[in-house]
Amino acid sequence: MESCIETLFFRRFRRLAVSYARGETLEVGVGTGKNIPYYPSDLEVTAIDFSPGMIQKAAQKKERLGADNIRLLEMDVERLAFPDNTFDTSISTFVFCTVPDPVCGLAELRRVLKPGGKAIFLEHMKSSNPLINLCLYVMNLYSQRFLGTSMIRETQKNIAASGLKILQVHHLILDVVRLIVAEKA
Ligand SMILES: C[S@@+](CC[C@H](N)C(=O)[O-])C[C@H]1O[C@@H](n2cnc3c(N)ncnc32)[C@H](O)[C@@H]1O
Repeated sequence: MESCIETLFFRRFRRLAVSYARGETLEVGVGTGKNIPYYPSDLEVTAIDFSPGMIQKAAQKKERLGADNIRLLEMDVERLAFPDNTFDTSISTFVFCTVPDPVCGLAELRRVLKPGGKAIFLEHMKSSNPLINLCLYVMNLYSQRFLGTSMIRETQKNIAASGLKILQVHHLILDVVRLIVAEKA
């Protein structure tokens, strides 16, 4: 069963993130495949995750939806097995809060994007508001330990640090959940 927040907000945000995808598309950290329903059937998508359990769940979803355009691979975003300049678009949703070395993973994304290729991020991150951050720090005590997810990652700064050029930032829930469009210049 899907969580309330998934139904109320995230489905809409996922549809929005996926709407930016063009050409050869790479999704990193596909998880259980929550974005799979939103990809048009004529878009070629390679979706990776380093967890075999997640890939298995995503494969079941792909099968159920008959999404033959999605190719699933077990792979670490910090060591992508694709040549430079392979993809037109990359998509990640709620991934760079968990990747052990996020700047390394983001630099790998940049490497496999074609020049002018777009990287689309739907991610939660640290806020610019100290009061909100206080709440996030408290939540992080639980999330980091039990879910392996950081509530206080500075993902927008990490994206810039990887060498990707940030083109658009949309604040979707306060400035905690953001849709970021970046480019390999
Ligand atoms: C919070 S889940 C989000 C899953 C999915 N993107 C979604 O929106 O529901 C984060 C996912 O990123 C994957 N992940 C974390 N670090 C990774 C890495 N270094 N390489 C590939 N996948 C990774 C995890 O296995 C997990 O499936």
